[in-house]
Amino acid sequence: MTQVSDSRLYESLATRIVEMIEGGALRLGDKVPSVRKISAQQNVSISTALHAYRVLENQGWIEARPQSGYYVRRTTPARPPEPQTTQPPPGSNSVAVSDLIRQAFHSASLSHMIQMGAAIGAPETFPDKQLRRAISTVMRDGEGVHGYDFGAGYLPLRVQIAQHAMSAGCTLSPDDIIVTTGCTEAINLCLRAVTKPGDTVVLESPTYYSVLQIIESLGLRALELPTNPREGISLDALEYVLEHDNVAACLLMPSFQNPLGHCMPDANKQRLVKMLRAREIPLIEDDVWGDTAFASTRPHAAKSCDDDGWVLYCSSFSKTVAPGYRIGWVAPGRWKKQVEYLKLVSSCSNASLPSRILAEFLENGGYNHHLRWLRRHSQQKMQHAIEGIKKYFPEGTCVTHPQGGVVLWVELPPDVDTLKLCNEALKLGISYAPGAIFSATKKYRNALRLYCGHHSDEQTQRALQTLGELFAR
Ligand SMILES: Cc1ncc(COP(=O)(O)O)c(C=O)c1O
Repeated sequence: MTQVSDSRLYESLATRIVEMIEGGALRLGDKVPSVRKISAQQNVSISTALHAYRVLENQGWIEARPQSGYYVRRTTPARPPEPQTTQPPPGSNSVAVSDLIRQAFHSASLSHMIQMGAAIGAPETFPDKQLRRAISTVMRDGEGVHGYDFGAGYLPLRVQIAQHAMSAGCTLSPDDIIVTTGCTEAINLCLRAVTKPGDTVVLESPTYYSVLQIIESLGLRALELPTNPREGISLDALEYVLEHDNVAACLLMPSFQNPLGHCMPDANKQRLVKMLRAREIPLIEDDVWGDTAFASTRPHAAKSCDDDGWVLYCSSFSKTVAPGYRIGWVAPGRWKKQVEYLKLVSSCSNASLPSRILAEFLENGGYNHHLRWLRRHSQQKMQHAIEGIKKYFPEGTCVTHPQGGVVLWVELPPDVDTLKLCNEALKLGISYAPGAIFSATKKYRNALRLYCGHHSDEQTQRALQTLGELFAR
């Protein structure tokens, strides 16, 4: 509980200081009140004030000067406004997005393309040296590298995953965990375990298009809820839906959702888990982005409030280590047996070599050190992209301000059709993900998702200028 209130306190203190800078009360070069003074003024602890200042320093708003204190380093946020809470039409829909997705990503992977569509990490963001070292160690040892990993998967890897899950507030034992082929397989298995064709699954709106594709492939219906780009789904709307519809499961990304980037406050996560538990509805939590928080500690997962196994917790190392190992996992709670069975009949076993490499890397490769670097890197890339959007995109553009992940959700004036313009952009050598593929309702025609973790700053600015000119036409 202390952690819940502390994290909200430092965030709100940091926001207040940013508002003072943006509003002109603190100008470039001004000295910011000392940590001691602000903690007394705002009635927060010294450590909360210090935490807020470190976040602001990481974000480039203020800088520490030795022996002197903190000073304002920049005053222009160069940030367009944030989008409003989304308003998807009520009711459930059958899903048919696969053709749209194929159309949108057609030729997007050509090598000359500036790739801002799929959120695929750049090779230079992988911990290459450490992974090579782990590969050498595993091959030198040689034990079990060519065999099957039956059942829940390689035990030392599950031990590492269980230990790391503590940072998300989850107390898991290795026996709670099943290793999967990426988070995609984990989601697939969970949906198959808790639903049957024709069932309704509650989602954020917009949501990750691959989730929609899985739902489509399983013959499920999607019910999308109003979603705020800072706090996530409206829990009041969820309450209403649970009263009036027949819902089989909820599939949400409470920490740094793709594509909106929001992070549900801890209190909302608690209310969400309680509300679903009361109605015996499973929550499939996709936490693939949770470790990418820009703050020095990552948010707790909704799974951390789950006392009796109603949350099926899915994640992977695709966004934080490297996607090519295809190492994901699921802690399926009370659906452990079903998920293990479905894993067995769908792929028999995981590839044993990647499991051993990841286990060795997690144990000895400095994962937390790598995460600290990755967070700073992604935050800088994202801030830079937001500034480019402000500079080049048409008047009236809104963009999310996520505190983790590497994607931005951009809403353009209503007359811009990003699906139609997708091919024009590809001809200009730039790919993006059009908004329409993120909803079963085909809404969001004037929106797009931009992946901003990959390119040099110059490339990003050039691409944003080109896109801005295209959208302005
Ligand atoms: C929210 C979300 N879940 C799952 C995935 C897929 O993860 P994996 O590559 O581990 O299958 C992604 C990839 O972008 C994602 O954004």
